Amino acid sequence: MSSQIDHLLSESRRFPPSAAFAEQAVGGNALYERAAADREGFWAEQARELHWHTPFTQVLDWTNPPFAEWFADGELNVAYNCLDRHVEAGNGDRIALRWEGEPGDQRNVTYAELTDEVKRLANVLTDLGVERGDRVALYLPMIPEAITSMLAIARIGAVHSVVFGGFSADSLRSRIDDAGAKIVITADGGWRKGKVSPLKPAVDQALADRNGSGIQETVEHVIVVKRGENDVEWTDERDLWWHDVVPQASTEHEAQAFPAETPLFILYTSGTTGKPKGILHTSGGYLTQAAFTNRVVHDVHPETDVYWCTADIGWVTGHTYVTYGPLANGATQLLYEGTPDTPHPGRWWELIEKHGVTVFYTAPTAIRSFMKIGRDVPQGFDLSSLRLLGSVGEPINPEAWVWYREIIGGDETPIVDTWWQTETGAIMISALPGVTETKPGSAQVPIPGVSIAVVDDNGDPVGNGSGGLLVVTEPWPSMLRGIWGDPDRYRETYWEKFADKGYYFAGDGARLDEDGDVWLLGRVDDVMNVSGHRLSTAEIESALVGHEGVAEAAVVGASDETTGQAVVAFVIIKSRYLKQKPVDGLGDELRRWVGEQIGPIARPRDVYIVGELPKTRSGKIMRRLLRDVAEGREVGDTTTLADTAVMSVISAQVK
Ligand code: WT7
Repeated sequence: MSSQIDHLLSESRRFPPSAAFAEQAVGGNALYERAAADREGFWAEQARELHWHTPFTQVLDWTNPPFAEWFADGELNVAYNCLDRHVEAGNGDRIALRWEGEPGDQRNVTYAELTDEVKRLANVLTDLGVERGDRVALYLPMIPEAITSMLAIARIGAVHSVVFGGFSADSLRSRIDDAGAKIVITADGGWRKGKVSPLKPAVDQALADRNGSGIQETVEHVIVVKRGENDVEWTDERDLWWHDVVPQASTEHEAQAFPAETPLFILYTSGTTGKPKGILHTSGGYLTQAAFTNRVVHDVHPETDVYWCTADIGWVTGHTYVTYGPLANGATQLLYEGTPDTPHPGRWWELIEKHGVTVFYTAPTAIRSFMKIGRDVPQGFDLSSLRLLGSVGEPINPEAWVWYREIIGGDETPIVDTWWQTETGAIMISALPGVTETKPGSAQVPIPGVSIAVVDDNGDPVGNGSGGLLVVTEPWPSMLRGIWGDPDRYRETYWEKFADKGYYFAGDGARLDEDGDVWLLGRVDDVMNVSGHRLSTAEIESALVGHEGVAEAAVVGASDETTGQAVVAFVIIKSRYLKQKPVDGLGDELRRWVGEQIGPIARPRDVYIVGELPKTRSGKIMRRLLRDVAEGREVGDTTTLADTAVMSVISAQVK
């Protein structure tokens, strides 16, 4: 079967939860039993944890697949659920956001204060003519106003489209155009790497005539938060300072009830290939799964925890696990504006110590970059407040997992490796801390209420011990409802491959081990075929970073006359290691190493030692560009790279 992926690497370490953790954990085995007995009934129960202005009587409507409706006859207000209800329950004084700017300025925002601020902005937006269903684009740094904006837009039944602050004026323009946004909320700039990096100029450029496309026509107003001291250009009729309009506005604003399927946000994802897609999420089902997973996977205890998810609101992780999940649960969270290494490489660990962070959720790319710098940096801080760690965004290789647990988690904290996507809206596969015995490198099991399978090209299960394609077999509450303005692309991209079975195809390869636990193997588009064996990028990369000298690795398949494809590896060597050993011979050593760790079939044909890897702004490696280099072609489109210069550096190093 061509879709089957060979499995070569084995990992036998196990970490059972401690009795003390299990004792206090929010989630328990009963959730799995309940969900298995009655999946829809289970989700209805989770949905009833929210406040419904009009209770729903319907759960799932799947009569028009792949367009799902959840809780469709119910009505709720997403912002009311994240704000007012906590205030009304007497928790208005609880801190919602412990915010710290990159220069070290701090603001604590309570639930009562955040509620008032959201009401003010909701009134401002309404006065500017924003109505239910209208789109508002956000282009903001990680400041409390970003959260306020998302919630104010949700409160009035409008739709937000957050554009990551690192994207260019062109990317911003195409997203504003595609969504037909009426308002843009931005800031003069945001602190990054020790200075204010400008944002408003990119908005001005995006709205101006771009390469003959004409002036942008849907945007009526730009609201600008003042964060720095940068001078900004001003367009009088259009631009408004936040501080001129929001503080004066009334805090009287009653949250209206909207049907559960009211669009909540559009978030553009380009992934590592293709034109950006506007992924559409709606209200009731999304908030249900966001809140539920934040409770049981992040084990959030709102009264006592200080939770920190490091994601920017420009990504879905920042939507679901900074804004909606934690606030729906009434949690206290840390919000940090800047970069991890400013003004010093231990900034994140300093923040954890200072704010007493208990639950920490970040990405493998960040963990590996800290491994590269060395353990003495985090070891200079008191991280003993941490009780749970999470990972998201890529496969986390066992070496990084173990390092994360030992060095950051004091050899004690459980780690949850959470698999999901912009499209799935919320966590789909993860251990439950306190319940699951964890395995480094495996995302393990679907959460209660989610059904997945690993199948071959015909949609038949591959069975334990085999690899194949990861699918979701039943609709789930936080699933995307479509691609903005393009229902055909929605159907083709996600549902066509297994149309007869009605499976959602995620684009990822995965393997089930002997226990039936899931191991993610990377994007199927990246799978290599060497002498008829389908090899996963994740496994070979994992073996490479298992070598003491390797900090990061990316492998691709390059066409090869004898084997069809050959494995080509790009590796970054740890700086400390480079000082001790000569680079000569290291390529051969790594080839041998992979052969020993996995088997001769996986041994790279070429190993290139490089200084950087091409990554998207969310930290995913763009393997197609490395494939271009490995096959000696001109390098393709690099516009979605975080640093567009790295490819010329890599090409030069390879030559
Ligand atoms: C893709 C989705 C999930 C929110 C952030 C990224 C990869 C994500 C894992 C994980 C292995 C993972 C997949 C997925 N991915 N989490 N725990 N283990 N791979 O959202 O940008 O939409 O990317 O990220 O390939 O399809 P996204």
